Amino acid sequence: MKTVRLQGKTILITGAAGFIGAFLAKKLLEKVRDIKIIGFDSLNDYYDVSLKEARLEMLKAYPGFIFIKGNLADTHQLRQVFREYQPQIVVNLAAQAGVRYSITNPEAYIESNLVGFFNILECCRHAEETGGVVEHLVYASSSSVYGSNKKVPYSVEDKVDNPVSLYAATKKSNELMAHAYSKLYGIPSTGLRFFTVYGPMGRPDMAYFKFTDKILKGETIQIYNHGDMYRDFTYIDDIVTGVINVVEHVPEENEEGVKYKVYNIGNNKLESLMRFVEILEDSLKAEGMITEPAQKEFLPMQQGDVYQTYADVSGLERDFGFRPETRLEDGLREFVKWYKEFYCK
Ligand SMILES: NC(=O)c1ccc[n+]([C@@H]2O[C@H](COP(=O)([O-])OP(=O)(O)OC[C@H]3O[C@@H](n4cnc5c(N)ncnc54)[C@H](O)[C@@H]3O)[C@@H](O)[C@H]2O)c1
Repeated sequence: MKTVRLQGKTILITGAAGFIGAFLAKKLLEKVRDIKIIGFDSLNDYYDVSLKEARLEMLKAYPGFIFIKGNLADTHQLRQVFREYQPQIVVNLAAQAGVRYSITNPEAYIESNLVGFFNILECCRHAEETGGVVEHLVYASSSSVYGSNKKVPYSVEDKVDNPVSLYAATKKSNELMAHAYSKLYGIPSTGLRFFTVYGPMGRPDMAYFKFTDKILKGETIQIYNHGDMYRDFTYIDDIVTGVINVVEHVPEENEEGVKYKVYNIGNNKLESLMRFVEILEDSLKAEGMITEPAQKEFLPMQQGDVYQTYADVSGLERDFGFRPETRLEDGLREFVKWYKEFYCK
C-alpha cells in the first residue's frame, strides 16, 4: 500500500455534520498540521437538526474547517466544490442511513446513496480536467451488506448478494460502482463496512439512543425478536482511528489491476441485545438518571432487520496493526454522560 501524508492536504468529507463525519473531521483537524477539511452536508431533517448543528459548532473552532451546505444529488453544486477546492482525498460518509426508514422512504436512499454516490464518482473521475487529482476515495459501506448470512464472523471474502433492505442494497451497489470506477478510471478506492457505531453525539435513530430517550421519559422500550438478536458495537473513537488508518493508505493494484479494497470496521465482539440493554440501564443508574429497570415490550423481528452482525477485522489488523477495543460498558458510559450534559441540564 502507498502511504499518503495528510499534512497540507485538502480533504472533502461529505456527511461532515453527521455522527462519524464530524468526529473524523475533528480528529484530522487536531492531528494533522495544515490540513484543510471541506465539510459538505445537506443538514437534512432525518433526525434532530440541532444535533447536526452542534457538531458543526464544534468544528467551526478549527481554522482549517470550511463548511458547505449542499446535496450530493445536486451535480452542479458538487462539481463546483471540486473545481474550487480540488480535494486530494475524498471521504464519502453522506448517505441516507437506517434500515427501517428505507421501508417507508425508499426515494431518499436512491437520491443520496445512488445518485449522490454516482456524482461523487463522476467528480473524482473528472477532477483532472479542473486541475486537481483525487489520490484516494474512501466511502462508507455497511455491515448490512451481509444480510442474513449465517456464517460468522462476517468476512469481506464472504458472498454478499442477498441484501434484506434497500439500504443494504444501496451500500452494496456503492461497492460495485466504486469497483467499476477504480477499474475504468484508475481512481483508488476503499470501502468501509461499519458495524453499529455508537458514542457521544451519536445518531438519535439508533437503538441505544432511542432506548435512552424512552427510558428517561418512563416509556416502554421495544425489544425486537424477543431479545434474541446480536450486534457488534463499535465505539466512535475506534471508527475514527480505523478510518484515518485507511485514508492514509492507498490500495495498490490487485491481481485484476484495480486499486480497490474493502474492510470491515467492527469490534469483533458479539453482544446480545439483552446484555446491551442491561449495560445501558447500569450506565443510567450509575449517572443517577434512573433507579428502576426499563419497562420492556417483547416483539417479533422487524422487516429489514438482521439477526446478528459480527465483524471479522483481520484485514485491519493485517494492514494497519489496528483493531477496535473499546468495551461496550465504557463506550455506553461515555454516551450516557454526554446525553446527560446535552439533554438533561
Ligand atoms: N453509524 C452507524 O452505525 C453506521 C453503520 C454502518 C454504516 N454507516 C454509514 O456511515 C456513514 C455515516 O453514518 P453516520 O452514522 O455518521 O450517519 P449520519 O446520518 O449521522 O450522517 C450522514 C450525514 O449525511 C448527510 N446527508 C444525507 N444525505 C445527503 C445528501 N444527499 N447530500 C449531502 N449530505 C447528505 C446527513 O445530513 C447527515 O448529516 C453513512 O454512509 C452510513 O450509511 C453508519
